[in-house]
Amino acid sequence: MTTTLIRGRLLSFLRRPVAIDDTASYRYEEDGGLLVEDGKIAAVGPYADMRAAAPAEVEEIDHRPHLILPGLIDTHLHFPQMQVIGSYAANLLEWLNTYTFPEECRFVESEHAARIARHFYDEMIRHGTTTAVAYCSVHKTSADAYFAEALKRGMCMVGGKVMMDRNAPQGLLDTPETGYDETRAVIAEWHGKGRNHVAITPRFAITSTPAQMEMAAALAREFPDLHIQTHLSENHDEIRFTRELYPDALDYTDVYAKHGLLGPKSLFGHCIHLSEREADAMSEAGAVAVHCPTSNLFLGSGLFPLKALSRRERPVRIAVATDVGGGTSYSMLKTMDEAYKIQQLLGERLNPFESFYHMTLGNAEALSLEDRIGTLDAGTDADFVVLDAAATPAMALKMEVVRSLADELFLLQTLGDDRAVRETYVAGKPVKAVL
Ligand code: GUN
Ligand code: ZN
Repeated sequence: MTTTLIRGRLLSFLRRPVAIDDTASYRYEEDGGLLVEDGKIAAVGPYADMRAAAPAEVEEIDHRPHLILPGLIDTHLHFPQMQVIGSYAANLLEWLNTYTFPEECRFVESEHAARIARHFYDEMIRHGTTTAVAYCSVHKTSADAYFAEALKRGMCMVGGKVMMDRNAPQGLLDTPETGYDETRAVIAEWHGKGRNHVAITPRFAITSTPAQMEMAAALAREFPDLHIQTHLSENHDEIRFTRELYPDALDYTDVYAKHGLLGPKSLFGHCIHLSEREADAMSEAGAVAVHCPTSNLFLGSGLFPLKALSRRERPVRIAVATDVGGGTSYSMLKTMDEAYKIQQLLGERLNPFESFYHMTLGNAEALSLEDRIGTLDAGTDADFVVLDAAATPAMALKMEVVRSLADELFLLQTLGDDRAVRETYVAGKPVKAVL
């Protein structure tokens, strides 16, 4: 068994920071050490203590003066949309119909799916994202490519074959039966293999008939531990169309609730325009609203009330995500930069500790995976990221006047992107330098 000692400035969170001076919400070790064995963090603490505890032949990697954080987590993006990013459209539905659906049709080809999967994981690693939750396309081939590549790279990934049986081109439709059967086949082949997690993935109410929603509900009953992912309340025209398609539902959220899809493993992309009733229903169910700021701005979908939803008497659980390719960046740093600006427009503050909490422990909690990822705790998987706040000339110049950890994090978030990610470790192995 080989042991590696990683040295650097360690930062990880214990809970959500309630204010910028909430120092009890995180653990910061100026000269810290991580002992890594068999892909897991064996011990963590001051470097001197870790050095003393390490075997004599330990390999040591010194990342000072850089920060070491848990690997970043992206809770919502679309693996088949790498070539959709930056498509010029007026709004969500035009963007889906004009660019996104035609592009996803290409994923019926397993060679294409495998090629894009390789690029997808390269981008995750380049940007310091060690766990992501992705929609594949409707084709089982796309889920096979997605999970096969995750397995090869030893990454902890969540994903699902999209279920969609109406309001899209023929090449992108399954049926209630094939959607069920193929999702079951993906679960049987991939769930629990390596670090893979399969998610039940009805795309959204517009592209699933009530019969397909019933099948998704059946899967959720059969596999209660699986994540469920879909979209909710992103755009006003989308909401209107959904209400027409499901006239018996109280509102958009109720469409999913009526079909047994509203629960603590449910991840709802966007949730921008929820009513108070819908927010209450989400809160009661423990469902997660996934904020995708670069996408919401790019598609003009609206301003997500992150702070308002989290300080309600009945708070809604919140995660953050890129939503590539409606989103415009793979970077979780850029994502939180845009999240910050959206809260500014709403007259709210999002402090840098909160942002970094969301990218790490917050997202791990939203996935109910905090016992494995999202911290630097001993016993968890050794996925972490090395961040350099002076990575570019502009960042280095600003760093000259940075005096606090909060300011350093804010600089990383405001000017940082993949260039600020010096190294990404997956299960204890550095994987960015070798890309
Ligand atoms: N709603 C249904 N499908 C999608 C998608 O691919 N991207 C976004 N942003 N919203 C959706
Ligand atoms: Zn999405």
